[in-house]
Amino acid sequence: MKNIAILCSGGDVSGMNPALKRFVEYTKEKGLTPFFIYDGYEGLIDNNIKEASYSDVSGIINRGGTKIGSARSKRFMQKKYRKIAKENLNTLAIDLLMVLGGDGSFRGLDTFYKEHKVKFCGIPSTIDNDINGTDYCLGIDTSLNIIKTSIDAIRDTASSFSRAFVIETMGRDCGYLALITHLTSGSELCLIPEKEYNLKSYENKFKTEVANGRRYFIAIVSEGIRQDSQEIADWFEEKVGIESRVSVLGHIQRGGNPTVKDRLMAYKFVTHAVDALLDGKEESVICYDRFGFNFKGIEEVTSKTKELDRELLSYL
Ligand code: F6P
Repeated sequence: MKNIAILCSGGDVSGMNPALKRFVEYTKEKGLTPFFIYDGYEGLIDNNIKEASYSDVSGIINRGGTKIGSARSKRFMQKKYRKIAKENLNTLAIDLLMVLGGDGSFRGLDTFYKEHKVKFCGIPSTIDNDINGTDYCLGIDTSLNIIKTSIDAIRDTASSFSRAFVIETMGRDCGYLALITHLTSGSELCLIPEKEYNLKSYENKFKTEVANGRRYFIAIVSEGIRQDSQEIADWFEEKVGIESRVSVLGHIQRGGNPTVKDRLMAYKFVTHAVDALLDGKEESVICYDRFGFNFKGIEEVTSKTKELDRELLSYL
C-alpha cells in the first residue's frame, strides 16, 4: 500500500476543490492512501499533513478556493527547509506527491526532486494561463466566466451614465484573461503586455464615435501593461472627452463556483496524474493541448515564457 499526498501552491483557483475530491476518491479506488498537505509547501515544512478521508471532500465540489489552503513559501526555496520537508514525508512513508500550482511552484518541486527523489506530478493551476507547454490551466474557465458576468453588469451602469469604464483584469505579465475577455465581451479597447500600443492612434476614432452618438466605452486592460489603469481613464477624459471610471476586478477573478469545464478538467487532470505516478513517471507535469493530455518535463514547462496564441493575438 503506497502513500500519496497532494498540496496546493501559489494563487488558488476554482477547480482545486473538485480536484481534491477526485484525488481522494481515485487514489482510494487504486488502493493508495491519500494525504492532504495543508497550506502548500509551508505545511510540508511544518508537518501539517493529514490522512484524507471521504468526509474531508464531501460537499466541496461546488466551492471555489481550496479546502486545504494554499501559500507562497519563501522557506521552501532554502535547502534546509526542503530537507525538513523530506523528513516529514519519510515519517509518513509518503513517496508520491501531486502539486496543484503554477510554474513557480513547479520550479521548487523540481529542485526537491533533484535533491530528494520524491516522485511528483504537477497539475497546472493558475488563472494567468501562463504555463508553457499547456493550453489549459485549471481555473481559467471559471475566472473568465466571473469576469464576463462582472463586465455584463458594468455595461449596464456604463450605458446608463454615459461613461468609459477601464476594467483591469489579473494575469501578471500575461494578457490571456484580458484578450479572451475582449473578444467575448464586445469591448472597444484591449491593452495587454504582449502587444505594444499607442493610445493616440485611437483618439480620432473614439472622438468621432462619441460625436456620432456612442454613449459608453468598455476598455479591458491587463494588470501587466506599462501604464496604470487610472492613466488610461484620464486619457479617456482628457483626449476622448468622456467621463470615466476605473474598475479593478481584483480577487473576485480567483473565486466562485467552479464551472462544469473546470470540474471536468480537474477530474481528468487528477486521474491522468495518478495513473502516471502509478506507471512510474517520476517528474512530470500533466499538460493539455489540442491533441489531448500529455506529460512534459519541468524544464520545458518552466524554462520559457508561454506565448499567447497567435491567432487570438492577431484579432487585436
Ligand atoms: O497568479 C495568480 C494571481 O492572481 C495573479 O493574476 C495576480 O497578479 C496575483 O496572483 C495576485 O496575488 P495575491 O493574491 O498575492 O495578491
